[in-house]
Amino acid sequence: VNVRPVRPEDREEWLRRRTALWPHCARETHLADMAESLGDASRWAVFVAEKDAGGLAGFVEISLQEHAAGCDTSPVGYVEGWYVDADQRRAGVGSQLLAAAERWAVAHGCREMASDCDVSNGVSLAAHLALGYEEVQRVVQLRKWVG
Ligand SMILES: CC(C)(COP(=O)(O)OP(=O)(O)OC[C@H]1O[C@@H](n2cnc3c(N)ncnc32)[C@H](O)[C@@H]1OP(=O)(O)O)[C@@H](O)C(=O)NCCC(=O)NCCS
Repeated sequence: VNVRPVRPEDREEWLRRRTALWPHCARETHLADMAESLGDASRWAVFVAEKDAGGLAGFVEISLQEHAAGCDTSPVGYVEGWYVDADQRRAGVGSQLLAAAERWAVAHGCREMASDCDVSNGVSLAAHLALGYEEVQRVVQLRKWVG
């Protein structure tokens, strides 16, 4: 695959993979978030992996954050979204996407990266750990009705 910055013509393929990664997010929310990440190149970047035969195999979205859990430096490159098509996994595509995100973060003054994954997402955790990330904390999120 060839990893490169996302282009406007990738929108539908990017949206399809975003929807696979975040199925509970409404289409309008996806489109608004995509426009936001494309609109601020100083704080956001999106890279896609393009198959040799054409078409995408995955994407990574990254932002600059002032702080992130477990990090000692600022800014931090934050992995906001990371997805590879099911039939393209375990072939190094995810690694190449994350490497592009990390290069972008270094070029934007970062010395550390941060990311998160659901506690139940063992594959994501395994992939992060394999690529040099270390677990720093587990979070429990809560809610209740008040009205
Ligand atoms: C996480 C994800 C992006 C990894 O993409 P990928 O292209 O398969 O990653 P790579 O092939 O570069 O794998 C890198 C290493 O991670 C580890 N890894 C990846 N998938 C793994 C799995 N299913 N089980 C155990 N280790 C795994 C391996 O060490 C692997 O190296 P190896 O194949 O040489 O053993 C992909 O599995 C995915 O899209 N998952 C669904 C969406 C998701 O959960 N995204 C993360 C949200 S936080």
